[in-house]
Amino acid sequence: MKRMIISGGSRGLGAALVDEYRRAGYEITDLSRSGRSGDSVQVDLAQPKAAQQILDDEFGRIAADPCEHVLLFNNAGDVMPVGQVADKAVDTVLGNVNVNFVGAIVLLRAFMLAFQAKNCPKAIVNISSGAALSGVEGWSLYCAAKAGIEHFIRTIALEQANNPFPINAFNISPGLIDTGMQASIRSAAQTDFPRVQDFVGFKAEGALRSPALVAGAVVAILASDPAPGSRHEVADYVP
Ligand SMILES: NC(=O)c1ccc[n+]([C@@H]2O[C@H](COP(=O)([O-])OP(=O)(O)OC[C@H]3O[C@@H](n4cnc5c(N)ncnc54)[C@H](OP(=O)(O)O)[C@@H]3O)[C@@H](O)[C@H]2O)c1
Repeated sequence: MKRMIISGGSRGLGAALVDEYRRAGYEITDLSRSGRSGDSVQVDLAQPKAAQQILDDEFGRIAADPCEHVLLFNNAGDVMPVGQVADKAVDTVLGNVNVNFVGAIVLLRAFMLAFQAKNCPKAIVNISSGAALSGVEGWSLYCAAKAGIEHFIRTIALEQANNPFPINAFNISPGLIDTGMQASIRSAAQTDFPRVQDFVGFKAEGALRSPALVAGAVVAILASDPAPGSRHEVADYVP
């Protein structure tokens, strides 16, 4: 059985990736809060401890299936809150770090625990961001979390190298996508996000790529047999 597991498959890029892999005959598992399809499992990754039990149960169940190919996309993400961190309530701060970093690690851990011993091709694909490499004023939490999870992926790739049934793990930076995340960025106050008008301009100029186009490029990157720990830019795979 070919299976695609994705966090945040309910909308945005995640929903477009679900469409791609469903068309290719994969069984789908969407991990999100609002996914309503029969393939969705309700998980709030901003609550990592509660999420852990759900993920362990679900992965334990699906890992019992015969394995032909299994993919995990760490895709769920949230840029909010933006603004200087000292101005934010600590619960809001933790919510961002939890969904983008701690919850992602809990997800990856549960996947490795359940699928490590399976003798079939396996990959972890981290949907990253340019924010993992460069600071963006007002996005300190998102930048830090994206940088952290990229580095976690690189380290996993090293740890997997000597495993008898290794899981490939690599990073993909999708570029600007026309999703709800961009809408929330455009709605930020200039005091919190000084570059907000740049992002209003990106949308007006048509600089955002459709989720379907980006998902197609992600599929092309996976088909290119990425090296463990490598980093890829969607911009290199689209016109
Ligand atoms: N859009 C861009 O321009 C852009 C640029 C660079 C990188 N990215 C990255 O691309 C990925 C997808 O972003 P997108 O633009 O598609 O965002 P989006 O449209 O806002 O969708 C975010 C997804 O994450 C899920 N999610 C958010 N918080 C969650 C939580 N607490 N628990 C579980 N799931 C949660 C959402 O599902 P529910 O709400 O149903 O839980 C939704 O499916 C993210 O990792 C983002 O950082 C996006």
